[in-house]
Amino acid sequence: MKTKITELLGIEYPIVQGAMAWIAEHHLAAAVSKAGGLGIIAGGAAPVDYIRDEIRKAREITDKPLGMNIMLLSPNADDLAQLAIDEKIEVLTTGAGNPGKYMAAWKNAGIKIMPVVASVALAKRMERAGADAVIAEGMEGGGHIGELTTMPLVPQVVDALSIPVIAAGGIAEGRGMAASFMLGAEGVQCGTVFLASNECCISDKYKELVLKATDISTVVTGRPSGHPVRSLKTPMARKCLELEKENTDASLEELEKATAGSLRKAVQDGNYEEGTFMSGQIAGMLRELRPCEDILKGMTAEAEELLKNAYKRFE
Ligand SMILES: Cc1cc2nc3c(=O)[nH]c(=O)nc-3n(C[C@H](O)[C@H](O)[C@H](O)COP(=O)(O)O)c2cc1C
Repeated sequence: MKTKITELLGIEYPIVQGAMAWIAEHHLAAAVSKAGGLGIIAGGAAPVDYIRDEIRKAREITDKPLGMNIMLLSPNADDLAQLAIDEKIEVLTTGAGNPGKYMAAWKNAGIKIMPVVASVALAKRMERAGADAVIAEGMEGGGHIGELTTMPLVPQVVDALSIPVIAAGGIAEGRGMAASFMLGAEGVQCGTVFLASNECCISDKYKELVLKATDISTVVTGRPSGHPVRSLKTPMARKCLELEKENTDASLEELEKATAGSLRKAVQDGNYEEGTFMSGQIAGMLRELRPCEDILKGMTAEAEELLKNAYKRFE
């Protein structure tokens, strides 16, 4: 399938594996890139040496284009920005901040830049700053989210920009991918579907919870702090909601303590009581673990079929 995004990134399928802190490491990113999508290594707040190692390990598995994500507000953003250049990363996605001050150096290094945006205003700012594409992410998705859903966000961003738009949030199969193209997107970014992939190195408990999820299994916490996060409704998410409702100095302090390191507890330890199991609403559709290659091929084939034959439904 050829789109402006496959052309821009030099990939086979217009599917980007979204950054996922503590999760999107070399096994997952390399599997997606090797299979013809774009794999992304999540920078998060991880030490630079660790990320360098992850990039190099991914390069041992595949020489196809590889991406990296930088959270611009993280304390190591400057070092990761330079690491991307030194390690000849092909594509950078950015979140939480303005990549303006790095743009010239990244462009000189031939890196493609795709900021994640949750509003038209931010998307326009990113285009002006020199982005090659933007990822418009709706709040159906897992992890940190904005306020708009994918359906109204994507076409408004598409109309406001002249660079290509990638749709994210709630996409895990060919129907969502086809719908994204109808909204004007040139590619999709998925996170949750890759939690249910063989190559994703999260705890068995995490995978089990994702596969068991239904349409109403996720919840948004963190709204009072201005940093909403979508995750599975586990004891930790319920505790967060209760403490947020109490909204006292003591409860907010307890909340901060309880959530520190809680994603890592879910990813590495499968700690059901104390972990934060970030996931998107689309987890309700995932029923089995699959290799990344099957996910990419299956989604694209289904989307192509639907788009080719859509007119028949209305004859
Ligand atoms: C467990 C999890 C962790 C995530 N962590 C990050 C992150 O560190 N940086 C980021 O830019 N996006 C992060 N995201 C968002 C994804 O990159 C992607 O945009 C999102 O998952 C798309 O929606 P979906 O979950 O419906 O597929 C995360 C998503 C999940 C599910």
